Amino acid sequence: MKPKSRADDFSKSNGTEEPGLKSLRQKDAGVDRLPQPFRAMIIEPDLQTRSDASGTALHSNRSPEARLEEAIGLSAAINLTIVQSGIVRINNPKPATLFGEGKVAEFAGLVAAEDLDLVVIDHPLTPVQQRNLERRLKTKVIDRTGLILEIFGDRARTKEGRLQVDLAHLSWQKSRLVRSWTHLERQRGGAGFMGGPGETQIEADRRQIQERILVLQRQLENVRRTRDLHRKKRKKIPQPVVALVGYTNAGKSTLFNRLTESDVFAKDLLFATLDPTLRKVTLPHGREVILSDTVGFISDLPTHLVAAFRATLEEVLEADLILHVRDISHPDTDAQAEDVKKTLIDLGVDAVSGAPVIEVWNKIDCLDPAYREKLLAEASSDGPVALSAWTGEGLDRLSVRVDAFMAQHDDILSVKLPVSEGALLAKLYQISEVLERLDGDEFITAEVRVSDKQRGPFRETFSSFVVAGDES
Ligand code: GTP
Repeated sequence: MKPKSRADDFSKSNGTEEPGLKSLRQKDAGVDRLPQPFRAMIIEPDLQTRSDASGTALHSNRSPEARLEEAIGLSAAINLTIVQSGIVRINNPKPATLFGEGKVAEFAGLVAAEDLDLVVIDHPLTPVQQRNLERRLKTKVIDRTGLILEIFGDRARTKEGRLQVDLAHLSWQKSRLVRSWTHLERQRGGAGFMGGPGETQIEADRRQIQERILVLQRQLENVRRTRDLHRKKRKKIPQPVVALVGYTNAGKSTLFNRLTESDVFAKDLLFATLDPTLRKVTLPHGREVILSDTVGFISDLPTHLVAAFRATLEEVLEADLILHVRDISHPDTDAQAEDVKKTLIDLGVDAVSGAPVIEVWNKIDCLDPAYREKLLAEASSDGPVALSAWTGEGLDRLSVRVDAFMAQHDDILSVKLPVSEGALLAKLYQISEVLERLDGDEFITAEVRVSDKQRGPFRETFSSFVVAGDES
């Protein structure tokens, strides 16, 4: 399945077909999704300046080879059988078809010869370009947004995640009616229940989609209300929240599993995680934190998708600490890190108002020994943490760093409680960490650590019992 890197050269994939995998998703919420398995061709356009459908320049500065490899990985994540793939240099993008006439004819030949069901163009297409290409190639054509939507649809696990994907998908379909509804402009003729004589099919289709959108929005509103309640409850949880973020496939779920020893869905598929998962983790010194695994970021994520997933990423906005997990062995690790930072800023997590970020350099087991040593030296005690979620090497360093970070905001206080106040003593253990305890005849004196999050509740109950200590 390795693509050839030479421009304009298509390679034959050895991807195997999985005939048992008929789509379960085709009828979800009436969303027009791909049936599977699909025999697909992936084309990586190599343009001098990459821009989105509205003409805005895209920031991704990766090599076309790396982008193609990623597109192949993304496609494999939804079980597409990649029969052909290649990079196509475009000097003069055509408004009607993006590619020049010769290329379009070549693609059409390949589609017919290989009996392809799908062509993925790893670049934004205007609705007109998509429609024209579909007509010329006589097969379904999707662009990068379409591909990402497919993956999101496949990976969403919670009800809210699924609703969000369906909503994003429908909004996208609505904006592309010119393309995908090939029967457009056919007159409905007044027989249907959806409008009177003379109404064009496209108007009816648009209205039908709009109705579905409204239903989904209402459902989503309900789910959100429940989720808000849950979040309010979670806010009362004393433990600080640590959110894992990172480029797709960086190893967040693997790290999450390692740290929590739980079995969250992790496999070699991009976007294995779409919905955040929360688990309690006990750090070596006994401190508990809530670890939150989130959706993987991706370059050139369409803005409306970022907006659709804002709610899913709310844990990140409310986290006390963010761990930015990077696949440090990936050739594009720096570009990926930039994309993640940009997405975080888009979400409102910036250096000033957002939670502090610690970089986690994952997959050090994949590095050659010399480079590995160099990175380990760079990953100093207050810089990034280098580790392998796979082998477990360096996990202790991460726990220590997180613990040390949390400790910065702790208060160490001495409290003196009358022996008779048994209930208060129990509460003291609940909301603080008792470091030392001295039992006298009349009083119990204890040295306690109070976390940032517990400062308020602690003061409420114990301020009159504090005898010494520094509050941060
Ligand atoms: P998304 O859900 O797409 O955002 O991915 P993720 O960041 O949660 O990545 P995941 O944990 O699913 O890992 C992706 C792949 O990388 C899997 O095949 C893991 O087994 C592999 N992986 C994760 N950590 C390591 C590591 O430290 N070393 C090696 N060699 N592989 C790793």
